[in-house]
Amino acid sequence: VPSSRALAADLGVSRIVCVTAYQQLVAEGLLAGRVGAGTFVSDAALQLRPAATAAPPAGRPGPRRLPRERLLPEAQPWLACWGPFRLGQTAVAEFPAELWSRLLVRCIRRQPRRQMSYGDPMGHAPLREAIADHLRAARSVRCAPDQIMIVSGSQQALALAARALLAPGDEMWFEDPGYPGARDAFALAGARPIPVPVDDDGLDVAAGLARCPRARAAYVTPSHQYPLGAVLTHARRLALLAWARRRGAWIIEDDYDTGYDDGSPIPSLHGLDGDRRVIHIGTFSKAMFPALRLGYLVIPADLVERFTIIRATLDNFPGPLLQRALDQFLREGHFARHLRRMRTLYAERRRVLVHALERDLGLRVRGHRAGMHVVAMLPRGVSDRAVAIRAAQRGLSVTPLSSCYATPRPASGLVLGFGGTPAGELVDAVRVLGRELAR
Ligand SMILES: Cc1ncc(COP(=O)(O)O)c(C=O)c1O
Repeated sequence: VPSSRALAADLGVSRIVCVTAYQQLVAEGLLAGRVGAGTFVSDAALQLRPAATAAPPAGRPGPRRLPRERLLPEAQPWLACWGPFRLGQTAVAEFPAELWSRLLVRCIRRQPRRQMSYGDPMGHAPLREAIADHLRAARSVRCAPDQIMIVSGSQQALALAARALLAPGDEMWFEDPGYPGARDAFALAGARPIPVPVDDDGLDVAAGLARCPRARAAYVTPSHQYPLGAVLTHARRLALLAWARRRGAWIIEDDYDTGYDDGSPIPSLHGLDGDRRVIHIGTFSKAMFPALRLGYLVIPADLVERFTIIRATLDNFPGPLLQRALDQFLREGHFARHLRRMRTLYAERRRVLVHALERDLGLRVRGHRAGMHVVAMLPRGVSDRAVAIRAAQRGLSVTPLSSCYATPRPASGLVLGFGGTPAGELVDAVRVLGRELAR
């Protein structure tokens, strides 16, 4: 290359500019200086030169099937709409926001310096103790705090469980209809969710055995089947656990919205599991609010190391601030109080909604014992998808039941969330829905 002096004269800039530029290119290995001979393009840079005729490398995406619908609201217009019936919404107006912000401020002010560094991949130890106590009392889950891993909601728990328990190509039982977010998490990890039908007793274990006896895992929502709302019967729980023990398979229990029952809580499957085949997943998205992004996994002791390594590889560890605030929310009794209030509130919203759907629209409603959604069945032949698209145009976020099925002949119905909508507005919304159904 020309000397810095010649280049500076050529370009009409100061020599220092050219010297600095050359120094930078030398530091990056693109130029090399030879004493007494000048500055040259380095051998490494010459090798970097692209061949004039080389075609740009073809984009080769990875082999995994991606659930593209997740990012395409035009394929699911009900997701672009935040009106009544939106799933997963909680009664945020009833959340003790003042108290929560005081706890947060306290935690920020008293943040120990050592918590500004890296932390435990399993999460904040005192919060894990508080969750273990809560689970023992409320969900009959008996576990040590060091089996609890804090995650950013059950979605992360599902993705972690998929990676920890299943190899690409492994088959697993998946409820049909079931929770699409879980199906996507398993499919993304390369597993093959095999649809197993669900009836009024929950997952049909005998059908699972007949269809896919060699599955490596089963995903279930035993306390409140998503979306149909059935409770997995005791006999089926025992059959499922016996299969898992025989086969050495894992059961992934998604305990996503319990706490909101009619006063007789359904114990967890984990509580029945003497052989530690169950991975229990819970979330604070329903009990508090989804934007909190905190949930947990209860991991069989011999799998803790495996989960920890995978978690540490993916995102190191969960941030301590919200975990500390949540720990205090639990320990000071605010969580139990809030849950009690919400149980009453949601029971009332559920009662009003079911009544309006049955009385005003004459629809059969399923899954109204617990939870924050119900399913209104539509006559066969009525397209729930078409109804959902029309409803979205009227500002109602109605989820078609058929979108939860993996098999080709789905039942037709509407999955209706009521957590985020006051009772009076639910009645109005049912009226609007009735007009759309009549069209
Ligand atoms: C059955 C089920 N599992 C898991 C989740 C995910 O919850 P989150 O990731 O907010 O904890 C949901 C959300 O609505 C759900 O319905």
